[in-house]
Amino acid sequence: MAAAVAPAVERAAAGIKNQAVLDFLRKPKMLLIGGKWTPAKSGKTFETINPANEEVLALVAEGGKADVDEAVKAARKAFEESRWPRLNPHQRARMLYKIAELIEQHADELAEIETLDNGKAVTQARAIDVAGAAETFRYYAGWCSKIYGETNPSDPSMFNYTLREPVGVCGQIIPWNFPLLMACWKIAPALACGNTVILKPAEQTPLSALRLGELAQEAGLPDGVLNIITGFGPGAGSSIAEHPEIDKVAFTGSTEVGRLILQASTGNLKRVSLELGGKSPNIIFTDADLGSAVPTAMMGVFYNTGQVCAAGTRIFVQQGKYDEFVDQLTKFSAGMTVGNPLDPATKMGPVVSKEQFDRVRNYVEIGKREGAKLTTGGEAAADRGYFIKPTIFADVNNNMRIAQEEIFGPVAAAIPFKDENDAVLQGNDTTYGLAAAVWTRDIARAHKVARALKAGTVWINTYGAIDPISPFGGYKQSGFGRELGKHSIELYTQIKSVYVKL
Ligand code: NAI
Ligand code: MG
Repeated sequence: MAAAVAPAVERAAAGIKNQAVLDFLRKPKMLLIGGKWTPAKSGKTFETINPANEEVLALVAEGGKADVDEAVKAARKAFEESRWPRLNPHQRARMLYKIAELIEQHADELAEIETLDNGKAVTQARAIDVAGAAETFRYYAGWCSKIYGETNPSDPSMFNYTLREPVGVCGQIIPWNFPLLMACWKIAPALACGNTVILKPAEQTPLSALRLGELAQEAGLPDGVLNIITGFGPGAGSSIAEHPEIDKVAFTGSTEVGRLILQASTGNLKRVSLELGGKSPNIIFTDADLGSAVPTAMMGVFYNTGQVCAAGTRIFVQQGKYDEFVDQLTKFSAGMTVGNPLDPATKMGPVVSKEQFDRVRNYVEIGKREGAKLTTGGEAAADRGYFIKPTIFADVNNNMRIAQEEIFGPVAAAIPFKDENDAVLQGNDTTYGLAAAVWTRDIARAHKVARALKAGTVWINTYGAIDPISPFGGYKQSGFGRELGKHSIELYTQIKSVYVKL
């Protein structure tokens, strides 16, 4: 088996610079349960593919219910019996700092693993995903020693205080668009608060999470504190969502699966936080700095090949500048370097999978049928690999499916608007509410529109800025609960009130 797989791995990973990546790819990809790497109980594996060349990168253990049960036992044991939740906060912080350091030491290798598995441009994987992963661990390391309770103004005969305690065993189900970064957004705050974790990476992109698991072990994280179950949604994912011994589930992914997660939580009333889809409006007034708005709007929708939950896919441009804006956006986008994501010059790689490729191309056909005007792109950009050219539809009506449904690929819808009122009405006319942006030189209007938009994040004269210091999450059907900042600490703790008779 190993002999047959090795040459294919070299072909699948052609173009990488780090020998460590090949060494990693050649190792069996197993589940991390209770500090040990083990195959799935069923013995099953699944393929993970390089979307740039459609070659198999690795066979990965297909975890199922029986494996989740084992992982839950290990996580429960670590939570109830190990020192982890009761560790001196400085020591817990040291562990998280160590993981951040190791991520940085292996940054080039992790960036290449991410690019091979996901297809994202390697320079972006290095600068955003891997750098952000280390920063997130470092940020939450700082929180370990700052998780406060309170003393309350009780009756003089009593002393009342609160303790902020970990929730327990946390299941974390993540998507394929930012595999390593999403793993860190979930794991780092959970560990900072003293919880134990069962992480399920997306079946399209399991590799960077497995490498992170190895690094966490190298850092000395106690056995059972972080367990990783690779596998599919139905099976591994659903077993986590339903499990009676899991205290909290955090999910990032489609709104459709978010509903299933919530339904599955009713059995033991586990805590749920959901970060779901979006169809975010990017609103550009005629007085905006177009020199900055055009390229930023372009990256706002095409960054990560459009596979971003907060992507600015509905570009609203005020009448008067609409034609000029669409012309410039079309020119810039047509000139974007699409190609081999391992090439440092590449700005846009392939979409993650055949399924996503078909989905996006189908939406292009829907847009044409709905009568929107295709100004650039729409077709495949290579014979092999899941490459799609940056695609812009003009003359879009906000009621069209391409303006209402999350496409999750490099497709922008440019929509004209009349005035401030119209911009807010159309911008909010969506079932989603993850993010939004407004571009104007009028400072009062900028803040008024920011308040009126129903979205969890609003950018003014920029797009896409995200930092672990600030909460991220959705209004409406984009989900609930806020990750990052102190808000993740709230997600991963519960409060105990203690009365003392004096
Ligand atoms: P998905 O929601 O099915 O997958 C996300 C994660 O949930 C994966 O780890 C998957 O294995 C897991 N999952 C799937 N079914 C599950 C179930 N029944 N129980 C528990 N876990 C389950 O997303 P998918 O199918 O990969 O992509 C479909 C669409 O979802 C995309 O085109 C995009 O519109 C949206 N999406 C949104 C993301 C976001 O960041 N908000 C990320 C990924 C996808
Ligand atoms: Mg799915």
